[in-house]
Amino acid sequence: MKDNSAKRASFRSSFGLLVALAGSAVGLGNLWRFPYLMGTNGGAAFIIIYLICIVFICLPMMISEFMIGHASKSDAVGAFRVLAPGQKGWRVAGAIAVLCSLFIMCFYSVVGGWTLDYLFKSLGMAFSDVSEGQCAGIFTSMVVSRWEPVIFMTVFLAVSGLIIWAGVEKGIERYSKILMPLLFVIIVIIAVYSCLLPGASAGLSFMFSPDFSKVNGGTILAALGQAFFSLSLGAGMVLTYGSYVKEGENIPKMSLLTAISDTCFALLAGMAIMPAVFAFGLSPSEGPGLVFIVLPEIFSKMVSGDIIAIAFFFVLFVAALTSIISMLEVVVACIAEEFRMKRGAAVLLTLAFVMVFGILCSLSQGVLSDCLIFGKNIFDLFDYTTSNIMMTFGGLVVVIFVGWKMKKPDVFAEYSAGGKFVHPVLYKVLYFLTKYVAPVAIAVIMVCGLIK
Ligand code: PHE
Repeated sequence: MKDNSAKRASFRSSFGLLVALAGSAVGLGNLWRFPYLMGTNGGAAFIIIYLICIVFICLPMMISEFMIGHASKSDAVGAFRVLAPGQKGWRVAGAIAVLCSLFIMCFYSVVGGWTLDYLFKSLGMAFSDVSEGQCAGIFTSMVVSRWEPVIFMTVFLAVSGLIIWAGVEKGIERYSKILMPLLFVIIVIIAVYSCLLPGASAGLSFMFSPDFSKVNGGTILAALGQAFFSLSLGAGMVLTYGSYVKEGENIPKMSLLTAISDTCFALLAGMAIMPAVFAFGLSPSEGPGLVFIVLPEIFSKMVSGDIIAIAFFFVLFVAALTSIISMLEVVVACIAEEFRMKRGAAVLLTLAFVMVFGILCSLSQGVLSDCLIFGKNIFDLFDYTTSNIMMTFGGLVVVIFVGWKMKKPDVFAEYSAGGKFVHPVLYKVLYFLTKYVAPVAIAVIMVCGLIK
């Protein structure tokens, strides 16, 4: 087995690793996608299914991805070369995961640009005096314009490029250590504020008293897909970060902590948004516009709403930034290691690609909205292909690799970091979930995603 560890960077501490993993997982998926999906899928019942998916499918899947990175000490393509020498198919699967991160970046950077735009808008007090319905107009005129979103997207990408350029330890670890706890504090403040609003209790009971009569196959699929997206699974992220982890790290514990913090952020985001939606008599099933249209409207009616708006869009921006940083790292690590390119050059190359397709995604909201491929505009095509096809495929490959290709003793050695951690029965359960439950469940999502 080729040992790459000598020349590779690594996380300095377990805390640094954890904040970087959580920084990737916590993003627009939690603060923007989760609340609106929960709102459109009936609230509490959706949350319960989401939690079940996290425990029984995503957790074993995350540990598996982590393990492949950790055991190989290589990028998402190289990992399979190290662990399955001479078997090209696995490497192709790794390359698909890297492409998945690259493609997610193309539309994610557009939404990241919107968050930055809204941060500036709120700094300029754009939402202090809006009348009913005006926020929808502000949002639409922003997304359809040619230059505004593209400029903000460029700034967003430039900031993430600078952080990545600095490398794992100076870049990802240092910034995540500051930004993630800050993010947590700000979102808690907004959630407390929101829950104390008169009429907020209806929002809380929407989130916490389940009505299973509204659950159907679509709800389960939505919850499962969201769990996947939110934990950044199947796109090479956990694998790449896992490769920077020193020996002796407790992989199941790190994965568990990441899943717990990601889920806490999602629930907190729900608690920041839903009670306020109900308190102001708005609809929870507003859809993807929930954050950008409904929230500014709520902020405009709140006491100290200007400050809260600034804090919220700052949080959203930071969350999007730490997530895109992780996608960028997947691609940069792969290009730098596979093609022996300097990190700086790999960053520039990746950003150039993302810029070109990001601009197309952005324009597809306005001037290019008539340009449809398979009935979808460019933005939706990137979104659909990555989350419904590529991520699920990547996830499936990872659990099949660990469950069926890797040798059982090697898997157990990775679970326990040399026999140090946790009860063996737990490993058996974990192995069973990885080998049988997760692949079947992921295959079902994939099939349903494709025929939908
Ligand atoms: N998990 C991130 C979010 O919730 C998105 C993401 C997907 C990040 C894939 C990295 C890789 O926003």
